[in-house]
Amino acid sequence: MNLTNKTILITGGSEGLGFALAKELLSQKSEVIICGRSREKLNDASKKLNSNKLRTFVCDVSDYNQVQMMVKNITNLDILINNAGIFMESPIESSNPSEISNVINVNVKGVIYVTKACIPLLKRRKESYLLNISSTKGIEGEENLSVYSASKFAVQGFTESLQLELKETNIKVFGFYPASMDTTFHLKTGVVRDRSNWMTVEEVAEVIGFALSRPDPMMFDKLVLRNK
Ligand SMILES: NC(=O)c1ccc[n+]([C@@H]2O[C@H](COP(=O)([O-])OP(=O)(O)OC[C@H]3O[C@@H](n4cnc5c(N)ncnc54)[C@H](OP(=O)(O)O)[C@@H]3O)[C@@H](O)[C@H]2O)c1
Repeated sequence: MNLTNKTILITGGSEGLGFALAKELLSQKSEVIICGRSREKLNDASKKLNSNKLRTFVCDVSDYNQVQMMVKNITNLDILINNAGIFMESPIESSNPSEISNVINVNVKGVIYVTKACIPLLKRRKESYLLNISSTKGIEGEENLSVYSASKFAVQGFTESLQLELKETNIKVFGFYPASMDTTFHLKTGVVRDRSNWMTVEEVAEVIGFALSRPDPMMFDKLVLRNK
């Protein structure tokens, strides 16, 4: 798809991969919309991106009312990137139930809610993309990541089912499964890891930009990106 003047919604675009994607797609002359829960973080991102092709919305993707309010304000949409997500690392026995609910609410329900609300907009375009950001932990488990991994496996099931359900429509459904990226994603939950060998979000955003910009009829349906 030629990305020039295409409207792209990126959930969780105020930092990390979502921010890098916004930067990459603005550089390809797309109209970019980012959302997140914090107005302050969105304002900071907006200042850094400094583009009249950028719009921001405060929206918690795990709240369907907020998702509906945001989507009501969007008239055209060519690409939806479900990127917002939160991390959790804990042995299952000591996992906090409210933390478990948060991870499932944001990583699973958030993706489902935003997708459900945006499908009518995506259907109106001649060609559109739905990109769900899962993780390599969404195709293989890891000790102490059972809840996070379960949430990302759910994204895989949702994505692959929609690939069949939307097969006869104009919407291309793309599942993206990256390994560790150098963001504050893990640190926010108090998890400190050696990040020296991790991918940068700029590199990963470039890969996604490349994938989305392939000409019709070529399309990516599943991409696993690993650290060596
Ligand atoms: N970092 C990694 O190593 C890694 C590896 C594989 C996959 N992933 C996946 O890649 C995606 C991006 O990760 P990242 O590392 O870039 O994360 P990040 O740096 O922590 O950024 C997360 C973004 O999502 C937003 N967000 C969080 N909860 C939200 C909610 N309920 N509603 C709306 N926005 C919300 C945050 O803004 P607010 O806090 O203001 O809401 C922020 O803009 C996630 O889906 C993650 O699971 C990450």
